Amino acid sequence: MRAEQGSIRAGGEPILEVIDLVKHYPLTQGILFKKQVGAVKAVDGVSFELAAGETLGIVGESGCGKSTVAKMLVHLEQPTSGAIKYKGEDITKLSGRGLKAVRRNIQMVFQDPYTSLNPRMTVGDIIGEPYEIHPEVAPKGERRRKVQDLLDVVGLNPEYINRYPHQFSGGQRQRIGIARGLALNPEIIVADEPVSALDVSVQAQVINLLDRLQAEFNLSYVFIAHDLSIVRHISDRVGVMYLGRLAEIGTDEQIYDHPTHPYTQALLSAVPVPDPMAREYRERIILRGDVPSPANPPSGCRFRTRCWKAQERCELEVPLLVVPAVFRLTDTAAAHDSACHFAEEKQVVPSEGLLEAPETEPVEPGAPEEPGGPGEPAAPDDAAGKGDGPAPPSGGAHAD
Ligand SMILES: Nc1ncnc2c1ncn2[C@@H]1O[C@H](COP(=O)(O)OP(=O)(O)OP(=O)(O)O)[C@@H](O)[C@H]1O
Ligand code: SF4
Ligand SMILES: [Mg+2]
Repeated sequence: MRAEQGSIRAGGEPILEVIDLVKHYPLTQGILFKKQVGAVKAVDGVSFELAAGETLGIVGESGCGKSTVAKMLVHLEQPTSGAIKYKGEDITKLSGRGLKAVRRNIQMVFQDPYTSLNPRMTVGDIIGEPYEIHPEVAPKGERRRKVQDLLDVVGLNPEYINRYPHQFSGGQRQRIGIARGLALNPEIIVADEPVSALDVSVQAQVINLLDRLQAEFNLSYVFIAHDLSIVRHISDRVGVMYLGRLAEIGTDEQIYDHPTHPYTQALLSAVPVPDPMAREYRERIILRGDVPSPANPPSGCRFRTRCWKAQERCELEVPLLVVPAVFRLTDTAAAHDSACHFAEEKQVVPSEGLLEAPETEPVEPGAPEEPGGPGEPAAPDDAAGKGDGPAPPSGGAHAD
């Protein structure tokens, strides 16, 4: 039921509407005759909306179901139940041509730029691969130019079109992954931990690139990460997941400065704070115990086995993801969806700005992002083959 799982009242018509999404993976026993003995409840009733041009951040500990949500959004996994509406149409029910058309508009950027790019394919083939399935976007004769434009857009030298992934640094590989995500001119990008595998300084560069591309192409992002500071930097709204469900969701100000769910407060209390004064002021909340198994989640509130505020009601009654009654008639930032029977506002991190990801200068042409990049002397000399293609477009700052 949608009202139970926190629909989001974003301004205007949502481009994407996720309604009570569930993914259970069957647990089976037996070799010859497999018998289902249970299920891993990876995602167990998640609802949210995404407005055009907006970024929704999704955070939560490992195993809480973030990637499973992402995979269902891009149709890499079929939901057990629930709906994913793209511009009002439930895409979980689509097949054939209808599905193909929608898939074009929702693309994914993966976590690990080291394993998500085929090492035997050139960068040009990797970025241009989606055109094999969607030739209508770029007929054969135009593909090379299109791919070079995309390389330029993500800040890479278009002359590197014939190079292989191993000739690029991690940040540059992630730029290649982003270029591939953009190839079909999508409206929505689902980015699953797109910077987690990168060095901190390179993370900020890739985040800045995503910011710029969003403004340039009016993209909507679902941005998944562990790191709450990175999520704040890029998100308009943030959803906090715990054990297959959303615990709290709201604008970045509501979640970071006025969290009301104990789990969000605990996560925030662990965020590194650079200012020593602010660090002293902040209260650390140490969570006891481990995350329970998603095959056997606790009754009532899933967070109750680790929550310092848990009472009998928490065991008996599932808390709904709604604006808690105590804040319902108030006009404060605490009045946002939170799945807690005893929601209370608690500012964990002292003031705005402390959690911002470091800003970086744009990458200058010729300056490698990190050692080992193609700009380094060790890299093969111009594997793209000089004079092999049209002159690179000028004006872009290339991470080469
Ligand atoms: N194909 C599968 N079969 C069975 N269980 C699965 C499968 N894929 C994921 N799971 C389980 O579902 C749960 C959620 O996994 P998921 O990968 O979505 O978590 P996550 O939040 O992305 O974690 P991380 O932060 O580590 O990437 C985990 O318990 C995981 O073991
Ligand atoms: S419902 Fe109870 S157990 Fe769950 S977060 Fe709130 S106080 Fe804690
Ligand atoms: Mg994941």
